[in-house]
This record gives sequence, structure tokens and C-alpha cells, in this order.
Amino acid sequence: MQEILEQLEEHRREARLGGGQKRIDVQHAKGKLTARERLDVLLDEGSFEEYDTYKTHRCTDFGMADTRPPGDGVVTGWGTINGRPCYVFSQDFTVFGGSLSETHAEKICKVMDLAMQNGVPIIGLNDSGGARIQEGVASLGGYAEVFWRNAQASGVIPQISVIMGPCAGGAVYSPAMTDFIFMVKDTSYMFVTGPDVVKTVTNEIVTAEELGGASTHSRKSSVADGAYENDVEALLEVRRMFDFLPASNRETAPVIPTADPGDRTEMALDTLVPPNPNKPYDMHEVVAKVADEGSFFEIQKDHAGNILCGFIRLNGSTVGVVANQPMVLAGCLDIDASKKAGRFVRFCDAFNIPILTFVDVPGFLPGVAQEYGGIIKHGAKLLFAYAQATVPKVTVITRKAYGGAYDVMASKHIRADVNYAWPTAQIAVMGAKGAAEILYRSELGDPEKIAQRTKEYEDRFANPFIAAQRGFIDEVIMPHSTRRRVAKAFELLKGKQVNAPAKKHDNIPL
Ligand code: HXC
Repeated sequence: MQEILEQLEEHRREARLGGGQKRIDVQHAKGKLTARERLDVLLDEGSFEEYDTYKTHRCTDFGMADTRPPGDGVVTGWGTINGRPCYVFSQDFTVFGGSLSETHAEKICKVMDLAMQNGVPIIGLNDSGGARIQEGVASLGGYAEVFWRNAQASGVIPQISVIMGPCAGGAVYSPAMTDFIFMVKDTSYMFVTGPDVVKTVTNEIVTAEELGGASTHSRKSSVADGAYENDVEALLEVRRMFDFLPASNRETAPVIPTADPGDRTEMALDTLVPPNPNKPYDMHEVVAKVADEGSFFEIQKDHAGNILCGFIRLNGSTVGVVANQPMVLAGCLDIDASKKAGRFVRFCDAFNIPILTFVDVPGFLPGVAQEYGGIIKHGAKLLFAYAQATVPKVTVITRKAYGGAYDVMASKHIRADVNYAWPTAQIAVMGAKGAAEILYRSELGDPEKIAQRTKEYEDRFANPFIAAQRGFIDEVIMPHSTRRRVAKAFELLKGKQVNAPAKKHDNIPL
């Protein structure tokens, strides 16, 4: 018996070595952890239960029959994060460059199926040279099996991807169909075709980092939701975000007890909005002062800074925040902001996360580039997402709510449940100066007259009371009471029920 146990231990030792010590050393020399070390950081200590440790590939071409490392380049199983379970797969670059074979894909599909069946999130740690070249179409089929499951799981269980090495070709499409992508700076990249092909086809000379590194995708393309300094930071941030999420669409997010009183007042908010409507202020301050213990997990913080999206807790419960940011582009809605916030609203709605919206928006960003880029369709994404969301929605207008953007930003008309305004709110078709210049075009040559007209328009419309008189605003509130008001509103809305019309699915303006 002892001998059998020792044999098992020997098998395990061999499996844990993956592609061997030499390749592990190379991995470390690049500043990367191994597949198993990453799981150690991601999961609670001692919680990992591995499956398919000994599964090997079935390929016999190109001399592959001689090399069948146990596990076939991916470590799969489940573990816990702060006591809550998640399924995981972690690609092992030391085995055939983490490339995806038919059996490697089967291992991933097994944990995806279990995650779906049991209503548990799945987290994928990607570090792979793509399709296993020796296997050809069997590998492509394996990818497609994973893709199909990504689509099935969307909106059912949270799916999180961490890119911790190369991710190229069609391989990028599995992460792209998951809910969140985190990348590691300098060691990870994602692209459909690499720099060499780009050079051949378009004559553009670009490095892998420039083409598809973490900075590129977290700032420019918005493919990634966050970029982190190293493996450990990325994985710890996944743990932090995981605590905000429910296990599936059948559940609500966990309530984390807080010592922060729900009725805490914040007098600093009373003076946050500057008297000059053209002067910016930092919307982060509003979010931090309303959130439990000031904590805000921001999504896509380096992209479309004119809108903030992320998770906070209120009285311990997760709330998704969407907020215009006057510090960037005056808080205008543009293509990038609409796409970013639209997708975030959809995630929150799919997973029973209530949405808190802070509004300070002078309108949609004008311009040829925006129109040619399709701002109409992209702006409609956010409008559609808000209008369709049935989770509790609370809105606070802090200052400007102009034009179509007023309607879009979770207005009463598209079925927000509770709409508050600060006394500094200005709810109007447009800014006073613009309005005066259109209404009194004949007086344009006389700046004094226009200034007078602007003042008249401001006095009449630059306040929240006309909207409040119509019931579009439920109450004009003191800024310092925002946390208390909003927390109470969400508390009552916990019982919200909405009957949506029967349909197969919607047709969001993609
Ligand atoms: C089999 C692979 C492999 C692959 C790498 N390896 N990629 N084995 N299939 N796709 C092996 C290498 O042979 C090597 O084995 C080991 O992994 C490490 O690779 P290196 O090249 O030494 O590492 P590095 O210099 O860090 O370069 C990593 C890399 C490069 C950039 C990923 O290996 C590379 O370009 N690989 C090919 C990428 C590719 O074209 N993939 C197919 C994409 S198309 P040894 O034994 O020497 O350690 C695709 C289609 C998916 O994925 C479609 C889905 C619909």
C-alpha cells in the first residue's frame, strides 16, 4: 500500500513540474509566475481542488507521441476566494507554450460545464501560444467548443479572464466574450494577428506591446478592463472584484458587513460643485463619499475617463455606479463613454446588481469624428441598456443634465426608480449661453444683450425645480445627505419586481 501511495505522490510531483524545471526558470526569468503559483495567489490557501491532473493529449503527428506531459498544458479545478467557490483554469506556458490542444480544450470545457450547472463563476488565467500547431483542426474545434460555452454562460455566471502571457489569433475571442478582462503590463498581449503579419499586410511597423499590450487595451481599444503591474497585483485585484459579484444570475451579491453608518453625512459635498458651471470637479469624490468606507472598484479607469463605472457597497450590498466625470471632456457622452457604460449597465442588470447613476452631463460630444464613428448607434447602446435594465435604479443629478443626455442618464422617463437632484442641478435642453444664442440669433452682434438673455435663461431653467414640479425629480436633496438618501432608496427597492414583455431576446444596437 505504502508503495502505491508513493507512486501517486511521484505522479503528482511529475504533474506539478509541468514542462520541467528549465522552462519554469525561463517563465520566472520573464517575471511571470507558473500556472500553479498563480492559482496559489488567486485562491484561498489550501482550497484548490484539481481535476484531470493526468489527462494527456492524443496527438501522434510530428513525434508528439513521445511527449505526453500530464495535464496537457492547463491546470483546472475549483477553489475558493474569501470562502466563495469559483471554477478556474490556468494555462501552463511551460507545456507546449500553453497551446490549446483538443484535450486541453476538453479540460477547460469540463470546468465551464460544471460552473454553469452549479451556478458558480469561472476565472480563466490565459498564457498560451494559441492553437496547438501539431493538432491542426482538432485544436480549432476545441477553441470553438470553449467559445460556444462562453456564449451560453454569458449572463448566467460571471466569467473573468486574466491575460498573463501571449493570447493571439482566434484565442482572443474566448476572453472577449467573458465579462471582464484583466491584463498584466509588459508580459501579456492580445491581438488577432501579430506584428509580423501586420507588417506584411499593412506595412505598419509596431511592437507586440504597442499592438496589443496591457496599456494599449486598457487605454485605447477598451478590450481590457484593467492593467496591472505584475501577476500578483492582477490576481489580487481579481479577488477584490470577485467579492462584489454574485455567484450567478440566480443569486444576489454577498452582503459584506460594514462599520460605516448608512446615515453618514458628508458636509464637504455641499461645497463640491463650483459656482462657475464651467469649472470641473472630481466626481470620484462624490462616489467615494457615498460608498461604504470610501471604497470604489473602478472598471476601465484608463479608458473614456469622461464616465466612471465600477462597484461600491452601500450598507454592505454591491451597487454598480455610473457617473459622468466633469474633469474629462466636461463629462460629455461620446462613443467610448457610451460603449463603456452601456456594457457595464448590462452586466449589472444581468447579475442583479442595482445601479446608482450620478449625472453631470452637458450633452453628447459634437463633431464630425463622433458622427462618422456612429455616435448615434453607440449612444443608443447606453440608452437601450438603461431603458431595459430592471434592477433597482437610483439617479442623482449633481449639476448639468442637458438635452438627450439627460434622458439617457437613467432619467425617470426610462424607468429609473428614484431620481434625486442636488440644488445645483440644471436640467434643461442645453446650456444657457447656447440656448440664448439660438433663441436670440438676431442679437448675436450685441454681447451685452446676449449676456442678459443668457442670464434670463439661467434664472428660469438652470435649476432642478422645473423638473421637480413635473415629478421628473422625486426630491431635491442636500448634497451632504446623499449617502443616506441613496442607501435608503436601495433598501426599499430590494423588493422591486418588473414584468418585462415576453421575447426571445432584445436587439440592442450592437
Ligand atoms: C505548439 C507551441 C505553440 C503552439 C509555442 N509553442 N506556441 N507549440 N503550438 N501554438 C511551443 C514552442 O514550440 C516552444 O516549445 C514553447 O512553446 C515556448 O515557445 P517559445 O517560442 O520558445 O516562447 P516565446 O519566445 O516566449 O514565444 C511565445 C510565442 C511563440 C510568441 C507564443 O511561441 C509563438 O509565436 N508561437 C506561435 C503562435 C501562433 O502562431 N499560434 C497559432 C495562432 S492561430 P519548446 O519545446 O521549444 O519549449 C490560433 C488560431 C486559434 O491560435 C483559432 C481559434 C478560432
